Amino acid sequence: MKVGSRQMVCGAVVTTGVWLLSVALVSGQAGPPTAAQNQMLAENVFKNITVLRGIPVDEFMGTMGVFSAALGLSCEDCHTASSNDWSNYARDVSPRKTMARQMVRMMADINKQHFGGRQVVTCFTCHRGSNSRPRVTSSLTILYGAPPLDELDVLTPPAAPGGPTAVQILDKYLTAIGGAQRVATLTSWVAKGTYSGYGPEGAPRPVEVYAKAPNQKSVVVRDPGAGDNVTTFNGTGGWVSAPFRPIEVLELHGPEIDSARAEAEILFPANIKTVLTGMRTGNDFIDDRTVLSIQGNKGGAIVTMYFDEETGLLTRLVRSTPSPVGRLPVQIDYSDYREVSGVKMPFKWRMTWLDGRSNFEMTEIQANVTIPATRFARPAPPKPY
Ligand code: HEC
Ligand code: HEC
Repeated sequence: MKVGSRQMVCGAVVTTGVWLLSVALVSGQAGPPTAAQNQMLAENVFKNITVLRGIPVDEFMGTMGVFSAALGLSCEDCHTASSNDWSNYARDVSPRKTMARQMVRMMADINKQHFGGRQVVTCFTCHRGSNSRPRVTSSLTILYGAPPLDELDVLTPPAAPGGPTAVQILDKYLTAIGGAQRVATLTSWVAKGTYSGYGPEGAPRPVEVYAKAPNQKSVVVRDPGAGDNVTTFNGTGGWVSAPFRPIEVLELHGPEIDSARAEAEILFPANIKTVLTGMRTGNDFIDDRTVLSIQGNKGGAIVTMYFDEETGLLTRLVRSTPSPVGRLPVQIDYSDYREVSGVKMPFKWRMTWLDGRSNFEMTEIQANVTIPATRFARPAPPKPY
């Protein structure tokens, strides 16, 4: 893979990445779609959608992240136009774009005809994140070389028998961060710090995070030049307002709402035992440290929490939602736990998704402050100030 292309993929973080907060409206719901639901289907928002039809526009943007990540390509490798002129994205014709459409059909056929409709083959299965063509011949170098590092897949392998139960892991976590009683006193917090993305959009910017129990969250990345980037979940609805996007204020739906809700609920760990259903445990390694994992469901989302076996602290959260071309994972790595009003909270976290990565570093967190409800409401479209 060209280093340059990866940078471009990552450079698109701020402009395209948060789209991966995606949705599956159609799959999760019974009955015919309403007018409002029809309105936000990809084919009704964009001009030239021939295969990825019937999914909401934010899930559609998630599929573009899958394409980029699975093939090690940047948007411009398939779309001949420059990123900010969205009208060209409908008109452009490139051999890769044509091929990608064929591949979507092929992939769906393979899963349907050979795997009973389960989504076991995706773009990544064959392309493996590389922009060279899938290999035809077994590699002797791989056969006799050191095994390549493989990260955890979205689905946790089952735990060895005899390990701690989910409730035991969560109890240890509650003790590690200050004890269940202390944790229950946390009802809101406000944090200030710095956000940095990657690539040309990567310059550090001020960020504010607002959180209110049981499940509201708003993140505001300040950018006077282009307009703020605001990601908000108010307990029932979620939105992303950001400059340089085809949709200025993108609304979340379906599993993406579930996914956002799970993340917001986990910010207030007093109720952590009831956030997920169908909890199963596993064990793994993150950066050479043993972690105990708990995977469960939140509506249509699959969520996995990883706890450091020694400290008991939550070090990683992976939440993912479905799309027609593979799951859309968002990974958050927490670190630098410090005490705030007697409760240990992470001051640093890194968010990674299919076409982007960003770092959050807080300098101060204040607990139990009053936050007006408007803070979590649907954000206004971005504008310079
Ligand atoms: C592997 C090739 C490929 C990559 C990489 C790719 N796209 Fe696409 N894109 C497509 C195809 C194919 C379509 C048309 C899908 C269809 O017909 O259902 C499309 C359609 C679109 C559309 C809709 C255009 C319209 O109005 O009809 C947008 C917007 C878009 N892509 C944005 C992006 C962004 C942003 C990225 C980078 C994160 C990206 N794409 C990466 C292949 C690609
Ligand atoms: C079953 C394996 C398989 C799957 C699944 C698969 N591909 Fe491919 N893809 C291939 C092979 C093999 C080629 C090379 C074909 C050739 O050399 O003619 C290829 C070629 C391509 C190319 C052309 C590459 C270039 O640089 O010219 C694009 C674009 C592409 N695939 C996109 C996708 C997308 C998008 C998906 C998921 C929707 C996908 N593929 C899923 C096997 C696969």
